[in-house]
Amino acid sequence: MTILAIESSCDETSCAISSDGWIRSNVIAGQTIHEQYGGVVPELASRAHIQHIVPVVDAALKKAGCEMKDLTAVAFTQSPGLIGSLLVGSEFAKSLALALDIPLLAVHHMQAHVLANLIPTPRPGFPFLCLTVSGGHTQIVVCHSPLTMEVIGETLDDAAGEAFDKSAKLLGLPYPGGPLIDKYARDGNPARFTFPEPQIPGLNFSFSGLKTAILYFLQDHMTTDPGFVRDNLTDICASIQARIISILLNKLKKAARQTGIRDLCIAGGVSANSGLRSVFRELGKAEGWNTFIPPFEYCTDNAAMIAITGYYKYLAGDFAPLSVSASARAVW
Ligand code: KG4
Ligand code: ZN
Repeated sequence: MTILAIESSCDETSCAISSDGWIRSNVIAGQTIHEQYGGVVPELASRAHIQHIVPVVDAALKKAGCEMKDLTAVAFTQSPGLIGSLLVGSEFAKSLALALDIPLLAVHHMQAHVLANLIPTPRPGFPFLCLTVSGGHTQIVVCHSPLTMEVIGETLDDAAGEAFDKSAKLLGLPYPGGPLIDKYARDGNPARFTFPEPQIPGLNFSFSGLKTAILYFLQDHMTTDPGFVRDNLTDICASIQARIISILLNKLKKAARQTGIRDLCIAGGVSANSGLRSVFRELGKAEGWNTFIPPFEYCTDNAAMIAITGYYKYLAGDFAPLSVSASARAVW
C-alpha cells in the first residue's frame, strides 16, 4: 500500500511517500521569508506553499523511486492550521486523488505528531502517553490505539513553542527563536537565573506568566546594564529553557503517575529541543518509563507523520469524500 502524503498546515511544505507504513521519502521545504517579520505571515505562507508544492511532490516521488501510477491513496493535513496554507495542500491532494481515482485520507495534524512515534522502531506499546509540544499546541495525550486518542491536559494560553519563540523575541532573536534558544542554551548555565513555575491545577499548562516574568526580568537588568542580554545570552537561554522543560516534564510525570502508563513519548516541533530530549530520557530512567522520541526530521512539521497516520486510517477504512474541506480549527 503506497501512500503519498502532504503537509501544509503552517510554513513547511512537505510530501512523503510510504509503503506499508514504512517511510520511503520525506521532503520538506521551509519558508525563510517569515524571519524578517518576526512570525509567520499567513498570506505569504499560502503563496510559498503554491510555489513549493509541485517541486516538493516531484522530489518526494523521485526520492522514493516511484511514480504516480504506483500510488494507492493520498493523505493530507485537513486541520488544524492556517486556513490558506491548509487549502493549498488539501486542494492539491483532492485533485490528485480525483485524477488518479484513488482514495483520500484526511489527517488531523496533532494526531499525526503523536503518531510520528510509530515511524521508527522500537515503537511504544498501547496505551502510551504523549507530550505533544508544538508552535500552536501543548497537550498530554493518552493514545489507546493509532486512531483513538484522549487529551488529558493542555495549555490554557500560550503553547510551549510560543513560549520559546516569544522569549527569543524579547532577547532580540529572529523567528523562529526556539532552535536558537536551544543552540545558545548548550553553552549556558541553567541555574544562573530562576524564573517562576506556574501553579496550575491538574494536568493543564500555562506559559503566559513566564513570558511576563522574562519581560520584567530583562527590563530590570537592561535599565542598569544595557549590555546585559549580549553579555549573558547563553545563561539566560539556558535558564529559560530549563524552566520551560521543568513545566512540561513535571506535568508529564504527574500524568504518568495518575494513569499508571509506562510507555511515554514526546512529539511536535519542541521535541526537537536537545535539552528536553535529554531531560526526558533521564527522567524516564528515574521513573522506570520506556521513553520514545521521534528522529529530528519527524518532530517539526513533516509529511511522514501524515503518511503514517494515513496508513492507519487506510487500514481502518476511514476515507474522506472529495467534498471534505480544510479547517483552521479542529476538535478532537
Ligand atoms: O510542530 P511544529 O514544527 O509546528 C507546529 O505545528 O506548530 O513546531 C514549531 C515550533 C516553533 O515554536 C519552534 O520554535 C519550535 O517548534 N522548535 C523548537 C526547536 N525546534 C523547533 N523549540 C525549541 N527547541 C528546538 N530545537
Ligand atoms: Zn506541527
